[in-house]
Parts: sequence; C-alpha cells; structure tokens
Amino acid sequence: MSLEIVILAAGQGTRMRSALPKVLHPIAGNSMLGHVIHSARQLDPQRIHVVIGHGAEAVRERLAADDLNFVLQDQQLGTGHAVAQAVPFIKSDTVLILYGDVPLIEVETLQRLLTKVAPQQLGLLTVELDDPTGYGRIVRDTAGKVTAIVEQKDANEAERAITEGNTGILALPFAKLGEWMSRLSNNNAQGEYYLTDVIAMAVSDGLVVATEQPHDAMEVQGANDRKQLSELERHYQLRAGRRLMAQGVTLRDPARFDVRGEVTVGRDVLIDINVILEGKVVIEDDVVIGPNCVIKDSTLRKGVVIKANSHIEGAVLGEGSDAGPFARIRPGTVLEARAHVGNFVELKNAHLGEGAKAGHLTYLGDAEVGARTNIGAGTITCNYDGANKWKTVLGEDVFIGSNTSLVAPVDISAGATTAAGSTITQDVDNAQLAVGRARQKNIDGWKRPEKLKKS
Ligand code: UD1
Ligand code: CA
Repeated sequence: MSLEIVILAAGQGTRMRSALPKVLHPIAGNSMLGHVIHSARQLDPQRIHVVIGHGAEAVRERLAADDLNFVLQDQQLGTGHAVAQAVPFIKSDTVLILYGDVPLIEVETLQRLLTKVAPQQLGLLTVELDDPTGYGRIVRDTAGKVTAIVEQKDANEAERAITEGNTGILALPFAKLGEWMSRLSNNNAQGEYYLTDVIAMAVSDGLVVATEQPHDAMEVQGANDRKQLSELERHYQLRAGRRLMAQGVTLRDPARFDVRGEVTVGRDVLIDINVILEGKVVIEDDVVIGPNCVIKDSTLRKGVVIKANSHIEGAVLGEGSDAGPFARIRPGTVLEARAHVGNFVELKNAHLGEGAKAGHLTYLGDAEVGARTNIGAGTITCNYDGANKWKTVLGEDVFIGSNTSLVAPVDISAGATTAAGSTITQDVDNAQLAVGRARQKNIDGWKRPEKLKKS
C-alpha cells in the first residue's frame, strides 16, 4: 500500500483573534501544523500535501520542507473543495486526510485507521461525545452500518440527537476520490463543498465505511480559540509528563511542568515544579533540577544538580557538576565533571575544567578555566572591547581573588594568583601573584562632613 497524506490548513481561524494564521499557533513550542506534519511523517507517506489559504505565505515560509507539497486553496469553499485542490498531485492508492488545527492526533490511532482501508472500504475516525454540538453526525442504519455524515446545520432533530461525531479524519482508496470530488455539490445549509458527502457516495457505490475511535477524545480535538489552545497545550504536557514518569523521572507536579522539544531522560531524575525543557535536552541518571528552571538545548550528565531559578542554554554540564540557584549559563559553555557554578553567575562560551569553581556574582565570557581553578566573588572577564571579543585563559589551580577584572586577551598560567580587587591587563606566569590595584592609604584624623542646617 502506498500512502499520501492531505493536511487541511487553509481556514482563517477568526476566533483566535490573531494576525498569526491559526495553524501556526504553538502547542509545546511547535506550531499546531508542525505537530500534524511530525505525526504524518511517522507514517512514512510518499508525500504530504498541505492545503493552505489564509496566511499561505507565512505558513509556507515557516514549514517548507522537501517532503511537503503546499497546495493553494484561494477561496475556502469547504473541506471537500480543499481536498479537491490536492487530488491532481496524488499518485498513491491510499489517501489520509488530516487537519492542521487538530495537533494531538496519535500515530498509533492513524495506523489503526489505515488498516481499515481496502479497495472497497474506507476508514473513518469517529468519536463518542457528551456534547456533539458543531460536529457532523455519523448516521447508521438499523444494522449499525454507516450510511452518511450529516452536518449540524443540515441535521434534523433525530440526527442532532446522535452522539457519535465525525472527527473529519478519514482514510480512503484514491481510485474513487477523484470521481467523488467531481460529484460534490454545495447545495446545503452552509453553501460549502462538504468532504463529508463522500461517505454517502461511498455507500451508494457499494463501499463499506469502517470506523475507528481514538483512545482519547483530546486526540481529535481542534483548537478554534485560545481557550481550546490552552487546553490542548495542558493535555500535551500531561501526556509528555506521563511519558517521562514511565521512564523513571519523578515530577514533583506534572501540572507544573513543560516540555517544548525533545527530551531524553535517564533513571532517577528528579524535577521540581515550574521547570521548562526546550529544544533538545538530554538528562542522564540521577540529575536533580530545582524549581523554576529553564533548560534549553543542553546536556546534563549523570548526577548534575541544578538549583532553583537557573537558566541554562546550549551547554553541556559534566558528571556531578552543579549550578545555581540563579545561575545563567549561555551557549557554548561546558562544565567538566564536578565543576561548581554558584548564585548570580553568568557564563557564556566558557569552559570550566574539572572541579573548577565560580561560586558567586561572576561573569565569564569566552573563557578557558583550568581544572580546580577558583574564581572569587564578583570577578568578571572584560571580553568585549566594543568591537571584538577576546579570550581569557586561566590555567589549572589558579586562584582569582574576589572582584577581579580580567581584561582580555589575557593568559594566567597554572598556579598563579591574582589579588582581590585587581584589574588584570597583563599575562601572569605560574607561581606569581598579580596585584593590579592602588595601594591603600590611611588618612589620620579624618572629619566627616556635617549635615547643613536648613535656614
Ligand atoms: C468539519 C466536518 C465535521 C466535523 C468537524 C470536526 C465537514 C463538512 N465537516 O466541520 O463533520 O465534525 O470538522 O471538527 O468537513 N478547511 C480548509 N478549507 C476550507 C474549509 C476548511 O482548509 O475551504 C480546513 C479548516 O482550516 C479546518 C478544517 O478544514 O482546519 C475543518 O474546517 P471547518 O470549517 O472547521 O469544519 P467544521 O465546520 O468544523
Ligand atoms: Ca472546525
């Protein structure tokens, strides 16, 4: 069986009240349409056709990829009309219809649906609803066979009472689709070309309509406004949280945890509340992440401890290293094993050797720090001269006194010491003490100024 997928994404989404096309609104850091494309790809189709209309250029620009064929639907004349735009491009024998604003559909559900497709049979995904308002209703005969879908606005009272709703997702043999599309009419309450009319056509052509249901109704829930978007977001997050817990992660509260990317986890990881994991994050065994941390595109090796309120991006933290509370670790930073980064420390493109320490109130940018080197509180690298960035190199076992300014480029050899409060502009050899500050002078009998009396 060869498969092609059509994703409908041309609608406006008025209720979003947004300049952004509806399908580009994000769930977990990726656009809704991006999620649907991601799931579609896992079915290994020959091609994916994305029908675009409102905000077409923005959608194309954001999601362009070799395996995607964007088809423009100039006017949104209905779901049937939308599918018809893609038909001339399809060459495979099975077609699956998905929606750019129904982002949580599970690959496993679609696989089950696809098993229903045969030359004389199509697969329709339906859902049992407490309140089916707004949905097309699945009409069955006395034997329980599907005979048609009736849209809410075209339904009579008996049909409106049906609680089995059309998800819109269906898989069908392509051989019939072109002809069915040419038979669609817009003679209905909304004056639209309904895709759902193909069900009655299929039945009259002697095909069987086989139905499948998702395990979870949220899979087929669309987002028409920001409230629904937030419900899908939370559902996605709870699902992501459950997956991590199943792999050996303790989440202090899955309702206060967000993943916006791909996370790989080890065992016995502990994640406190309000943690956001973004992009590609790798977390090895025994890592502890404190509350209110953002970790983006980073690797945390075994036993890393991140304390509260830390922001970590584009970094690799070595085995047993620790950071925070209130650490800011920026791209290009590597901490070797057991390095320590304390509170109010900012690192950018810095390499801290094994066991190196920057405990308090420090900025290290474009810096190479040797093993066991200790950086005193308030130390900064002056790495930018207003035009270029320069490097600071500290050897092993260096001791940098508190409140040192390291004016780059500067090289401090292994075992050297700088005195507190120094501005270091010259290289220091090993075993030297560098003092770069004015000598203290004590003035005897100093009288403090007196406060002027108000007249
Ligand atoms: C559709 C179904 C309904 C089903 C419901 C599930 C039809 C006629 N009705 O109704 O049976 O219960 O979805 O949510 O199919 N779109 C286009 N181009 C168009 C029209 C729509 O791309 O010309 C896209 C929209 O962007 C949207 C999707 O198709 O993503 C569904 O369209 P919408 O108008 O929301 O259909 P419903 O009236 O909700
Ligand atoms: Ca809809």
